[in-house]
Amino acid sequence: MQKNYTKSWIINTRMNNILDLISVAPLAGISDSPFRAICRSFGAKDLYSEMVSADGLSRGQKGSVRLIQTLEEDGPMVVQLFGSKPDSFYLAAKILDELEHVKEININAGCPVKKVLKAGGGASLMKDVLLLGKIVEQVKRATNKSVSVKIRSGFDFHSINYLDCARISKEAGANKIILHPRTAKMMFSGKAEWEHISILKQMITGIKIIGNGDVLTLSDVKKMMDETSCDGVMVGRALFGNPWFLSDQSKVFNQQFVETILKHLELAIKFYGDHHAYRLMKKHLIYYVKGAKMPSSLKVPFYDAITRSNSAEEQRSIINDTLKEVLAKNE
Ligand SMILES: Cc1cc2nc3c(=O)[nH]c(=O)nc-3n(C[C@H](O)[C@H](O)[C@H](O)COP(=O)(O)O)c2cc1C
Repeated sequence: MQKNYTKSWIINTRMNNILDLISVAPLAGISDSPFRAICRSFGAKDLYSEMVSADGLSRGQKGSVRLIQTLEEDGPMVVQLFGSKPDSFYLAAKILDELEHVKEININAGCPVKKVLKAGGGASLMKDVLLLGKIVEQVKRATNKSVSVKIRSGFDFHSINYLDCARISKEAGANKIILHPRTAKMMFSGKAEWEHISILKQMITGIKIIGNGDVLTLSDVKKMMDETSCDGVMVGRALFGNPWFLSDQSKVFNQQFVETILKHLELAIKFYGDHHAYRLMKKHLIYYVKGAKMPSSLKVPFYDAITRSNSAEEQRSIINDTLKEVLAKNE
């Protein structure tokens, strides 16, 4: 019989704090400091940066340096590096080693995006396990902080080698493996093969194994842990415009909902300045209203106004007008 993990079941479970077991995934274009600060305000404790170029950071490139900076509302984080050159990883890890707000360095060996693969990074590292091992070694040489590696099941269906990648990473000193059990070729199609997480947990012992992929609700977190015995669960897409995931609430259109998105906008303005913030916030604001239980008489105009917005000031007044309507309804 299918188990039904209800809210009360999660609360009553022996896991006192399920939030301790959840990691907020590295998400290029999404998991920046304002996004992390919002997730943190909902209780998330283990949060990953967007992927940062090891080459770029080692050369002090402005865009890469920006990605490792944080707001005071944000806090200790894991920085994910991508690239293909062990020397660049060493230099980038040396820089990260000096930073108090960086608690762990993660190596991206799973990104399936063409541009990253072409330069030999991301999931390309799974095709050259010796190189992957060298990169882990160099990062370990540069830091005493925890080092983790994020992998997929393999590059394609014919090369499922997550066990080899995890083994070589462990031998090189990695403290944790995160597995998104799809191949790089699959990108996000099909289904994540949780069975691979279970096998990895059985075969590679002595380091933490974190499962990732297709976790849509808080009860899926527990389900993945039960089915695979993994040590923690990383969540990505389910958090887009939805920090309520972390408190097991559905997105209900109320004062707290509107105040949360306003706070996200203000944090983005603080971090990026008005001009950059409004461009980035468009997609977040659209994610927020997607799937929110909200009357269509408010949702449709909000969506349209945000899509057309041309400044952070305009976005702020759209959100404030919406807030006024919520408060008026509550009176
Ligand atoms: C928009 C987007 C950006 C992503 N960026 C990264 C990244 O920078 N580094 C990385 O390792 N994975 C990245 N991923 C993959 C996620 O971290 C995660 O492995 C994947 O979304 C599966 O988890 P989910 O089913 O919970 O979303 C990205 C995924 C998406 C959808």
